[in-house]
Amino acid sequence: MHITHLTTMILAASVVLVGCRSTEDSIMESKSGFTVTDAAGLDIGPVRMITLRNLNGMEVELMELGATVTKVVVPDRNGDPTDVVLGFDTVEEYPEKSQYFGCTVGRVGNRIAYGIFSLDGKAYELAANNGENHLHGGERGFDKCRWSSDPVMTSDGPGVRFTLRSPDGDEGYPGSLDAEVTYVLTESNELVVEMGAVTDAATPVNLVHHTYWNLGGHDSGSILDETLTIAADRYTPIDAGFIPTGELAPVEGTALDFRAPKTIGRDIGAFPENGEDPGGFDHNFCLEGEAGTMREVVRLSDPDTGIVMTIETDQPGLQFYTGNFLNGMTGKGGAVYDKFGGLCLETQTYPDSINRMGEDGWPDVVLRPGEVYRHRMIHRFTTD
Ligand code: BGC
Repeated sequence: MHITHLTTMILAASVVLVGCRSTEDSIMESKSGFTVTDAAGLDIGPVRMITLRNLNGMEVELMELGATVTKVVVPDRNGDPTDVVLGFDTVEEYPEKSQYFGCTVGRVGNRIAYGIFSLDGKAYELAANNGENHLHGGERGFDKCRWSSDPVMTSDGPGVRFTLRSPDGDEGYPGSLDAEVTYVLTESNELVVEMGAVTDAATPVNLVHHTYWNLGGHDSGSILDETLTIAADRYTPIDAGFIPTGELAPVEGTALDFRAPKTIGRDIGAFPENGEDPGGFDHNFCLEGEAGTMREVVRLSDPDTGIVMTIETDQPGLQFYTGNFLNGMTGKGGAVYDKFGGLCLETQTYPDSINRMGEDGWPDVVLRPGEVYRHRMIHRFTTD
């Protein structure tokens, strides 16, 4: 099945022009002067930026480089607009300074041990770009590619559909993959992220949305006083290289028990700095409920702005990462992003799933020709 069929399926029910509002009010486009160079060194043109607006004053800015979210402005409890995602003022800074800010990670988000796996009897070797392991798709993952963009008006609100063709052998992965990500900003203050892919040969796929959130505002400093709930009673313990040991362990009695709301700072000391490891949360949670079924798995709130974000997903796992490697880089408007200055809530399959195929409780990460990879997230914003 070609990817356009997937798109048609996803959007068929919803693509209509919104009668009372013109597209110009809700979708604005601009082009940055920044030009992306492709793997062969060819100049592939300026990067398009697109801003979505809804009637409640919410605004989402996106760009083609990495199919990235660069801004999400939501009203706080007093109605003041607050930009809750970390980012940079210029496109150029993303490849220079970003630690996957706001992007779409692929072909396989998170880690693959030693960058090796075998599939259908054939061995594959990928880049070891994170110590001895493979991280977030390799040297030039989907975050560093320019995606094509098409603005879409849906019955739920304005959106953008990004598409990318990853050729056979891209970063060492087998098969040519057609990937797409559609972002929609709804009139109910939701940011819907819908990812999909089809392939012409068996390949692992795990597209991951990598926004760094700070519901106090991107420039408000630490996220340690935010309150988090994660619907997960197990997690995947890891070794010193952040590779799962294979165990699916209970969160009960550990600092990873977020089943009842607690501040992020309360138990973070259980993961102190240790050599190269900056400490903090950087763990995959095994989400409750059935993979493939949408269910609410996360609730995050900020005490100062009162902004609340919940996440619904159909994925089996969630990487909760507290921005441990943020290094004081200068972001939007001169903001300084230090360690714990933002957090990621990355719905996903479990890390290194490709090397755990067939093991009890481990998700299937392999996409085969004729199948459609689907991954859905709904970020819903309210205040309390
Ligand atoms: C990973 C971290 C990694 C970070 C890079 C996260 O998804 O869990 O280990 O350092 O991405 O920005």
